Amino acid sequence: MKWPDHGGQPTTMKQLYKMDESMKVLDFSANLNPLGPPQWLKGELELQWDKLLGYPDPHYAASKEELASFIGVTKEQLLLTNGGAEAIFLAAKYFEGKRAAIVHPAFSEYERACQHYHLDVKSFVLTAENYFKLPMESLLHTLRDIDVLFLCRPNNPTGTLIPKAEVKLLLDQGLNSDTYIVVDEAFIDFVPEEELTFLLTSYPNLILLRSLTKMYTIPGLRLGFLLGDKSVVEAMEKAQIPWSVNALADSVAPKLLKDDTFVRTTLKWLKEEIEILHAFYEKYDFYMSPTKVNFYLLQDKREPERTNEIFNFLFKRGVLPRHTHNFKGLQGRYMRFAVRSKTENTRLMDTLRDWRRSQ
Ligand SMILES: Cc1ncc(COP(=O)(O)O)c(C=O)c1O
Repeated sequence: MKWPDHGGQPTTMKQLYKMDESMKVLDFSANLNPLGPPQWLKGELELQWDKLLGYPDPHYAASKEELASFIGVTKEQLLLTNGGAEAIFLAAKYFEGKRAAIVHPAFSEYERACQHYHLDVKSFVLTAENYFKLPMESLLHTLRDIDVLFLCRPNNPTGTLIPKAEVKLLLDQGLNSDTYIVVDEAFIDFVPEEELTFLLTSYPNLILLRSLTKMYTIPGLRLGFLLGDKSVVEAMEKAQIPWSVNALADSVAPKLLKDDTFVRTTLKWLKEEIEILHAFYEKYDFYMSPTKVNFYLLQDKREPERTNEIFNFLFKRGVLPRHTHNFKGLQGRYMRFAVRSKTENTRLMDTLRDWRRSQ
């Protein structure tokens, strides 16, 4: 089976499974906020329509200034990007031909970007048995031999969070060995108290990658940014394709970030739903990864070898999980689910209860 590289592709999945295209599917495979986008966004984009008739400012000066002051960095430390994906590729390009390490299981684009820019890549693979904890000793040792370490924090697909203290230890060692730490914070908006911006001043070897896609449910608009030392950001801007961020995305970026009512509502929903899901999985004997965000890994504790069968069982009943065949270390033994609305999560739990009864 040729599994798609990313979630959020119900049509491709239906074709793979030779299912009727008109079949209604609840898509748990894309880890987007089900409450979004904020209600005002559509009207605001319509108001900004005329922006499409001209080129955007190539330096995005206005939104950059507003975003930087809101985040608490200087505008020289920030680069607007065409989603977190472009930020990943710009980071890999910055280290073109050098030595990297990636901690897996993680978002597949770090590996692809590193291959594209001919980095020599070492892999570290974390396990569920060890709660997806970093092997700190060997990582600290390895930092001496590499130029850049890619971390996903919070991590896609596990939802787990590397403790701040461990990131600091890695950064300290990185300063000694001239190694950069790239932290992809695409999901940090779901745990805002965990973000690492405050470390940028002390650690010029820290590069943070952000996405507005996930929290604000705008994957089609394409919007993200990266934060780092002035010299790094300047070099990355030189390598960026001109007008990479479209004028509409540029015009709404600050307003999105400042919508803290929307974020607060989201965090409240997430806390409530995660608790319900957690209790259900405990009761019915399913493994749920120790997630801090809006998605998690799932495995049937009683039938850990039968993940493919559960996947098929769910999908045939209109519930689409994210496969994990292209995550190093998981190899399809888990499924990833987004936390969705109460009604949708209930439907998922009902279908899993049916699976349990069918055994
Ligand atoms: C960890 C992580 N980083 C970055 C991205 C890229 O997101 P976008 O380019 O839509 O901002 C994704 C998308 O799934 C992701 O999971």
